[in-house]
Amino acid sequence: MRKKVLAGNWKMNLNSKQSLALYADISAALSSNKEFDFIVFPPFLHLKELIDSRGFIEIGAQNFHPELNGAFTGEVSVSQIKDIGIQYALIGHSERRTLFKESNSFLKQKVDAAIQHQIRVVFCCGEPLEVRENQDPVMYVTNQLKESLFHLNSEQLKTCMIAYEPIWAIGTGKVATEEQISQMHTAIRNELKSKYGQQIANEISILYGGSCKPSNAKAVFSCENVDGGLIGGASLEPTSFVELSECF
Ligand code: 13P
Repeated sequence: MRKKVLAGNWKMNLNSKQSLALYADISAALSSNKEFDFIVFPPFLHLKELIDSRGFIEIGAQNFHPELNGAFTGEVSVSQIKDIGIQYALIGHSERRTLFKESNSFLKQKVDAAIQHQIRVVFCCGEPLEVRENQDPVMYVTNQLKESLFHLNSEQLKTCMIAYEPIWAIGTGKVATEEQISQMHTAIRNELKSKYGQQIANEISILYGGSCKPSNAKAVFSCENVDGGLIGGASLEPTSFVELSECF
C-alpha cells in the first residue's frame, strides 16, 4: 500500500550552513517510520554535502536536465545528480513550467531520463487561476499527466508520486478548499485506475501542495485521496515541518 509522504521544497532558499542546520534539526525531531517517506529538495549547491551526511530523510533534486552531458551552460544533468546518490527529483513544478517555459513534451523527456536512471519522480501538476475560474481544471490537470507521465508502463509508474499544486495557491496564502482538493485528487486516482488498473492506482501517493501549513494541514491531509504534502514556505522552519508531520 502507498505511503504517507511529507516533502519539503526548499526552492532557492538557504545557504549551505542553514541547509545543513535545517536538515539536522528536522532529523533530530522526526523519527524514521515505515509508513512515511520524508523527503527534502534543497538547492543544487547543497545536495552533495547533504547526501554525504544523509539520514532517514531522503534528499531529492528540484530539477535536472534530461541529457547526460553536453553544451547546456548552467544546467545539471540527470547522470550528474544520479552520480552523487540522488534518488528523487521534482518534475513539472509550476515554477519550472511558467518561469522556465518547460512544456509537457520536455517534461516527458525528463520523466524518461529519471526512470532510466532509477530516480523516483515526484511529478507536479496543477492549474492556473484562469483555468480554475473559467475552464475545466480536472481536464487541464489530467492532460498534464497524459502528456508527460502516462506513457510509462505500470512498473515504471509505480516508482512515481504525483503532487497536485494549484498554481494560484502556491506562496499566496490561499489554500484550495477541501472540496476542490478532494475532487482533484479523486479525479487523479480515477485516471490512474482507468489507465493502469485499481491495484497500481492504489500504490501511487498523491500529495497536495500550495500554502499548506500546520494551521490548515489537518484538514488538507484528511481530504479524500490525499497522501501527504509538498510544502514550500513552511518547510523552511524546522518546527512547522515537524508540526506538519503530526497533522496526518
Ligand atoms: P508554498 O507551500 O510556499 O505555497 O509552496 C508550495 C510549493 O510550491 C511546493 O512545491
